[in-house]
Amino acid sequence: MNVILLGPPGAGKGTQAKRLEEKHKLIQLSTGDMLRAAKDSGSELGKKAKPIMDAGQLVPDDLMIDIISERIGQPDCANGFILDGFPRTIPQAEALDRLLAEKGMELHSVIEMKVQDEILVDRITGRYTCAKCGAGYHERFQVPKVEGVCDVCGGTEFKRRSDDNAETVRSRLAAYHAQTAPLLSFYGEKGALKSIDGMTEIDRVTEQIEDALGAA
Ligand code: AP5
Ligand code: MG
Repeated sequence: MNVILLGPPGAGKGTQAKRLEEKHKLIQLSTGDMLRAAKDSGSELGKKAKPIMDAGQLVPDDLMIDIISERIGQPDCANGFILDGFPRTIPQAEALDRLLAEKGMELHSVIEMKVQDEILVDRITGRYTCAKCGAGYHERFQVPKVEGVCDVCGGTEFKRRSDDNAETVRSRLAAYHAQTAPLLSFYGEKGALKSIDGMTEIDRVTEQIEDALGAA
């Protein structure tokens, strides 16, 4: 099963992709995580992407398409994957169609996570992750069971993303509305789009995604 989670920054794509990964044994393909790893490694890709990400803009399509093309061809993706953060433009979506056709793969569903802009700023500025295992938390909406200790690995160091500040979030939201939202009609016209309410609590969002996948 190959699924796209589509939604604005902070909609909960990463949070829900991790849950789908565990439950359905799918692979989460987060282009944001891949770019952050490239930045941390100091690779050429990372050097190109850093100023663009810090400005809240989109990395050029050709770079992103190359990354995904290479990644979905790897053996661990054969059982299915969740695209989290890709495609983000019409040219990326068209390239994905071509790649899937070339590889004999199909798209099961595109799930739109609908969340209002005002809520997103709050979600993003309160977000942090475990520095050791990457588990995601929020200052108010998703706190560890024991304060200061990661539920998953017991780590005690946490970190925040450099693009998670109110100013960059506004640029990321503008990029979403201008460049990514047109994908809603692109997939709507193909009959692949399912929209869910991303503003309810995390467990309820998971239930809606499961229903949408079952009904696809
Ligand atoms: P990326 O990493 O993809 O960031 P994003 O799309 O801005 O999305 P986020 O990761 O911020 O949000 P999320 O939806 O995953 O939310 P999360 O689950 O963490 O991209 C970063 C940058 O890389 C881009 O700006 C761009 O420059 C570049 N890039 C990446 N892909 C690209 C592409 N294809 N083309 C071009 N450029 C690309 O949740 C957020 C917080 O809310 C968490 O703290 C969580 O605990 C909490 N939360 C989650 N769900 C709920 C809920 N239901 N209720 C309450 N709180 C919740
Ligand atoms: Mg994410």
